[in-house]
Amino acid sequence: MKKVLLAPSILAANFSDLGAAIQAAERGGADLIHLDVMDGLFVPNITFGPGVVAAIKRTASLPLDVHLMIEQPERYLAEFQKAGAYYLTVHVEACRHLQRTVTAIRELGMKAGVSLNPSTSLTAIEEILPYVDLVLVMSVNPGFGGQSFIPTTLGKISRLRTMCDSRSLSVPIEVDGGIDRSNIRSVVNAGAEIIVAGSAVFGAPDVREALAQLRTEAGRVIPS
Ligand code: DX5
Ligand code: ZN
Repeated sequence: MKKVLLAPSILAANFSDLGAAIQAAERGGADLIHLDVMDGLFVPNITFGPGVVAAIKRTASLPLDVHLMIEQPERYLAEFQKAGAYYLTVHVEACRHLQRTVTAIRELGMKAGVSLNPSTSLTAIEEILPYVDLVLVMSVNPGFGGQSFIPTTLGKISRLRTMCDSRSLSVPIEVDGGIDRSNIRSVVNAGAEIIVAGSAVFGAPDVREALAQLRTEAGRVIPS
């Protein structure tokens, strides 16, 4: 079984002390740092842009997993590359020429991710799969942390896994939203390899303990 990567989302951390939050996640065994960029248009919320990503890059040693929830993300690819993004993920719903956008992300030297909202069918990303390094399946409607996991996501993850396997594509599946110790196991068993968790990590009293619990639960296999 492949190792599951944990990507804590700083959306649930104390924004006045992001350095400490990132240090806690890194010391606690995180694999990636997930950064949620929101523009108030694609999603109702506004968070931060490339300036904050660059500041985080200066303090973080783990790769930065940047999730763009913004309209027309092609306008900002170079800025996020300069800021130090490792994965740069755009939403299929926000891009008119998605293949051009993901190709530009790769040409800038980053890993290209594509994300889809809960109501978006997998057919919307079928044609882009050969051109991406990551698919991010949203398990809540993007915009806010602390929402409940949408259970029909599990079937979607398994269908995506089958879709990738049948094309011999080893694209990692990342899942984001409402994941905690109670459901991480089913998300991993459905085929996810990268797990984003905000509230379950930074909302917990002890970040290291929260990550350890998620890792333990993720590794438990449901007998079939
Ligand atoms: C939601 C964001 C998520 C969010 C996850 O729009 O993309 O990354 O921070 O937070 P939780 O784990 O609290 O649902
Ligand atoms: Zn996210």
